[in-house]
Amino acid sequence: MNEPSYPLHLQRLVEEYLESLDFGADRRAARLVEAMRYSLLAGGKRIRPVLTLAVADSRGVEPATVLPTAAALELIHTYSLIHDDLPSIDDDDLRRGRPTCHVVYGEDVAILAGDGLFSEAFHLVLDQQRADSGALLAVVAEIARATGVGGMVGGQFMDVAGLAADHDDLRVMHALKTGRLIEAAIVAGALLSGAREDREPSAGAAEVAAYRAFATELGVLFQIVDDILDETGDAAVLGKTAGKDRTQAKATYVALFGLDEARRLAEETHGRALDALRALPGDTAVLVQIADYILRRRH
Ligand code: IPE
Ligand code: IPE
Ligand code: MG
Ligand code: MG
Ligand code: MG
Repeated sequence: MNEPSYPLHLQRLVEEYLESLDFGADRRAARLVEAMRYSLLAGGKRIRPVLTLAVADSRGVEPATVLPTAAALELIHTYSLIHDDLPSIDDDDLRRGRPTCHVVYGEDVAILAGDGLFSEAFHLVLDQQRADSGALLAVVAEIARATGVGGMVGGQFMDVAGLAADHDDLRVMHALKTGRLIEAAIVAGALLSGAREDREPSAGAAEVAAYRAFATELGVLFQIVDDILDETGDAAVLGKTAGKDRTQAKATYVALFGLDEARRLAEETHGRALDALRALPGDTAVLVQIADYILRRRH
């Protein structure tokens, strides 16, 4: 089966913007910046920033205007990959088709490269993203929440602590470790293009809630497919070592349900994502394309 279609024009915008980033370091930190750029510019699908751009586009806002925030989410995602690959976590030596950051630069520098990307992400949003201050604050709060204990890091903790015994736990773990950052990417795109999430119930809040409902299903779908590809893919296509979840006895959809049922659950989750997407305003064709890509992707 061929690779399904993907919005390459948005991916290209992200790629060019990431390449242009200058972390402005003193020459004494040059190797740290080199390690950050080594992992950041190694390719990757750029799903999270592409989603931010696609949401803005669907709402009639020029995608390039949300690039600083979109790129920041990719910096954070890359930090999460560098730390995920560390010997004390998943102990992986291949990522995005290259030796992992710690293999090339050492574990000490890799930890700092991840830390650096996380901080630079917030700097990028606060320094470069043009938006009214209310929207900007909402975006920063969203990213902070999505990456914290109630989000990505909490989910990664469930993973390393083996705290996913049943389907409920597994869905929560996937929604946190992977889904929550994807949700932040989608919500940030909406907030930067006029959607509002007020404390008081209002039409604007309902609008953001609709993006969240779509994003949650999309995020869980993304990780179910990641689990399936770990079982069925090969390193040359994946750009990372296959079969690791099985050897490390990770709690995954494949481990808990078997391959056929995991595939069925992926289809079902994709269906729920598309149902949720119907509640979104604007021209959502590219969001449908991305949802289909996430289900059918081969890497
Ligand atoms: C891999 O993410 C880690 C997960 C959250 C499942 P991606 O599959 O988005 O990796 P890249 O960015 O394309 O390399
Ligand atoms: C990683 O999940 C999730 C985060 C990095 C937050 P995985 O451990 O399954 O990702 P891969 O398979 O190594 O890319
Ligand atoms: Mg992991
Ligand atoms: Mg991993
Ligand atoms: Mg995986």
